[in-house]
Amino acid sequence: MNHGNNNYTIKDIRFALLNKLPYEYGLKLLEWRNQKFVRDKMFNDKVIALNEHIEYIKKHGNNILIGFNNEKPFCVINFIYYDVSGIELGYYLIDNELIGSGFGAIMEFFSLCYIFEVEKKIPCVFCRTLESNSSVVNLHKRFGYSFVGKGITNSKTYILQRICNKDWIKAKPSVEKLIKKIMKVDDFDCLDMFIV
Ligand SMILES: CC(C)(COP(=O)(O)OP(=O)(O)OC[C@H]1O[C@@H](n2cnc3c(N)ncnc32)[C@H](O)[C@@H]1OP(=O)(O)O)[C@@H](O)C(=O)NCCC(=O)NCCS
Repeated sequence: MNHGNNNYTIKDIRFALLNKLPYEYGLKLLEWRNQKFVRDKMFNDKVIALNEHIEYIKKHGNNILIGFNNEKPFCVINFIYYDVSGIELGYYLIDNELIGSGFGAIMEFFSLCYIFEVEKKIPCVFCRTLESNSSVVNLHKRFGYSFVGKGITNSKTYILQRICNKDWIKAKPSVEKLIKKIMKVDDFDCLDMFIV
């Protein structure tokens, strides 16, 4: 992947829970999620209707983070709690042009910071990624996830990966270096990044 074509200035990254943002973000979320390049990577690749979406955000608004770069939204992160033992993480960049610019790695890093250092409710995170989406499977691997198995949902084969708190503690120093390099900062505190 070419990381040299990044025309985006990455600065002042922040994440906010959807429920803490003005209502219009709920509607924007539907637009972002219905883009073809996002749907193509999801188990449900149909265009989602407004009524279906409203039900979804009523139920999950507290488990959806929107990422902002200098106040401009760039990603969506969502969590589904299984039970006390785990959580399933999903995410996507909201602009096709951001792909390959380092924002994916930023989103991955802060998803894990949020779960393990802000929320601190569960020991392990699971991700189901379409087998064909190898860049995401590799991104997870690089951030400390291990392979659990394969499965099928909606006739699509997925790779199941898991990262637990102890894996995050081990992986964090090296991936944090990468994130500092991408964000061009000397230091940051993960806990300052969230408006929750
Ligand atoms: C998946 C997705 C988030 C990946 O985002 P991305 O912008 O391509 O990710 P990045 O640019 O951060 O690239 C990730 C890779 O670059 C590395 N990287 C990024 N910037 C770097 C830099 N400046 N220097 C060194 N490495 C860098 C990452 O560690 C990772 O390694 P790789 O090149 O070996 O793959 C994005 O493609 C997307 O939103 N797709 C649509 C939805 C989707 O697939 N969601 C996931 C569903 S499970």
